[in-house]
Amino acid sequence: MFDAILIDKTDDAQSVSQTQIDTDHLPEGDVLVEIAYSTLNYKDALAITGASPVVRKFPMVPGIDFAGIVRESSHPAYKAGDKVVLNGWGVGEVHWGGLAKFARVKGDWLVPLPEAISMKRAMAIGTAGYTAMLCVQALEKHGVAPDAGPVAVTGAAGGVGSVAVTLLASRGYEVAAVTGREEEADFLTSLGASSIVARDELSGKPRALNK
Ligand SMILES: NC(=O)c1ccc[n+]([C@@H]2O[C@H](COP(=O)([O-])OP(=O)(O)OC[C@H]3O[C@@H](n4cnc5c(N)ncnc54)[C@H](OP(=O)(O)O)[C@@H]3O)[C@@H](O)[C@H]2O)c1
Repeated sequence: MFDAILIDKTDDAQSVSQTQIDTDHLPEGDVLVEIAYSTLNYKDALAITGASPVVRKFPMVPGIDFAGIVRESSHPAYKAGDKVVLNGWGVGEVHWGGLAKFARVKGDWLVPLPEAISMKRAMAIGTAGYTAMLCVQALEKHGVAPDAGPVAVTGAAGGVGSVAVTLLASRGYEVAAVTGREEEADFLTSLGASSIVARDELSGKPRALNK
């Protein structure tokens, strides 16, 4: 038995409890992970409060991410003792998630944790930080490079945006941070932004070219 947060729904009422779950009751998967850390993502808050239909299968253990240690595996890429991270894949929405001591998931959803990153740090980076890096990788995959000119980051003071500013600046990009909160200018500059652009400047009516 282990501790977990469980969301249930009967008729139209949603209930949330901290409860004990038997490992035998975990959903199917080829890797059993003992969870060390998870985050409280905005999506988790929506799931737990029921403010938005994030959970599509009940009962559900919320938690869209986790870092932990493999305890059992029949997946060729993982063995007991490996440190792993999971972000997304419908976990915490259609498959039991990270706000529990154990999770059983598909090994294909896991990422091996690099030696240089602790499990705690991986979850401090969180799904927001992970998403920001995926965005940077996608830009670079499509040919964007530091010498191509400045990169604008919208929602710059937010969770994904602030990490994107940090990552881009540390990789040598000139970053224009677009924000609706000018009071965050010093914060964004401290992350490496070269210039601060008011959100209104971008959200105005587009001007026709050559006029
Ligand atoms: N967090 C995650 O794990 C994750 C994962 C995948 C995808 N996403 C997606 O990534 C986006 C950002 O998520 P987040 O977690 O960074 O959210 P967040 O922390 O709430 O940041 C969103 C930012 O958007 C800006 N913003 C707010 N209202 C706006 C408006 N009306 N017009 C233009 N910009 C506005 C604000 O930045 P300024 O104050 O600087 O203007 C705000 O900080 C969302 O679409 C989210 O669904 C998030």
